[in-house]
Amino acid sequence: MKAVEIKKGVYWVGGIDWDLRNFHGYLTQRGSTYNAYLIIDEKITLVDTVKYYMFDEMLERIKSIVDPAKIDYIISNHVEMDHSGGLPQIVKIAKNAQIITSPNGEKGLKKHYGEGFNLKVVNTGDSLSLGKRSLQFVLTQMVHWPDSMVSYIPEEKLLLSNDAFGQHIASSERFDDELGWDVITEEAAKYYANIVLPFGNQVKKALEAVSGLEIDMIAPSHGLIWRKHLGEIIELYKGWADNKTENKAVIVYDTMWKSTEKIAKAIQDGFENKGISVAMRNLQTHHISDIMTDVLTAKYICVGSPTLNNGMLPTVAAFLTYMKGLAPKKRVGLAFGSYGWGGQSVGQVEEILKTCGFQTSEPIKLQYIPNEDDLNEIKGFRTQRK
Ligand code: FEO
Repeated sequence: MKAVEIKKGVYWVGGIDWDLRNFHGYLTQRGSTYNAYLIIDEKITLVDTVKYYMFDEMLERIKSIVDPAKIDYIISNHVEMDHSGGLPQIVKIAKNAQIITSPNGEKGLKKHYGEGFNLKVVNTGDSLSLGKRSLQFVLTQMVHWPDSMVSYIPEEKLLLSNDAFGQHIASSERFDDELGWDVITEEAAKYYANIVLPFGNQVKKALEAVSGLEIDMIAPSHGLIWRKHLGEIIELYKGWADNKTENKAVIVYDTMWKSTEKIAKAIQDGFENKGISVAMRNLQTHHISDIMTDVLTAKYICVGSPTLNNGMLPTVAAFLTYMKGLAPKKRVGLAFGSYGWGGQSVGQVEEILKTCGFQTSEPIKLQYIPNEDDLNEIKGFRTQRK
């Protein structure tokens, strides 16, 4: 396990988690990496660590460059354990190392690991000399935790952005020009939709804070390092932070006896007849974290459930709970579903779409099996229903 030099004297020493499939509920079908970086200067510096179970891999990569006991500084940009999990082990080896973190990082690290660390707190604008290089810090509170910060090396034009600009991809490749653009942007979008989406305003502030910096490489803490497509990923982030949508629809549903699915397909026809592209997302076959990638840029969010035991199906409830937490904005919602009696599900779905702040269209609620007239009416997008 070797380190990868990303800039002269700056190395990637992370861990590749090929088998990761579940990141607190987020389906990571391409695995992930935890990117730690080693800076060789008069002060040897490690930026972030890895999940605890990948520690040996990180250590081996560090050892391929330097004796880890010689590490002077460890930058903890973020307390979450996929990046701080290796701290308790590395400080046992790098006994003189000082851990540099944000004010909320100090609080978080103490709550995670106790009082034993040698901590130094930094704020936005603070700088740390490493010798030939320096590290400048920018707090990026709530992108996506209170402790989050990024580190910038002006001499290298290198931004160590932690979770921002990350993607869950396990690969031998380290740079964005070494893997397909479609794959990287799809995973960057999925990452944003599932992790960063609620914090659009904070993302805008963070983008503003780093906009004056001269950057030719962004090294995030997950996935590929951006050295070719910096402009593109920053533009994408601006759009996502603005909840900028496209004229397309996502239809999310579950079905008991295919009646709700019939309605879903009629809605699909209705959109397509108007030239609006549709993503059909049956919750029996699509994971909610993948659906969020569709939601990220879709203007129309249609959610359907039949009524079961006076409520919606649990799969639909799970999706709505997840989406509501991720707080997409500026959408148009539509609730739909079939029912036998009672028929509470559609009203419940509609209520949650409204709670999300979506503008809603007249819900579609049909008893038992929709007939051809019903379906044609839906395809024609008439708003008055029985
Ligand atoms: Fe990759 Fe918020 O941790």
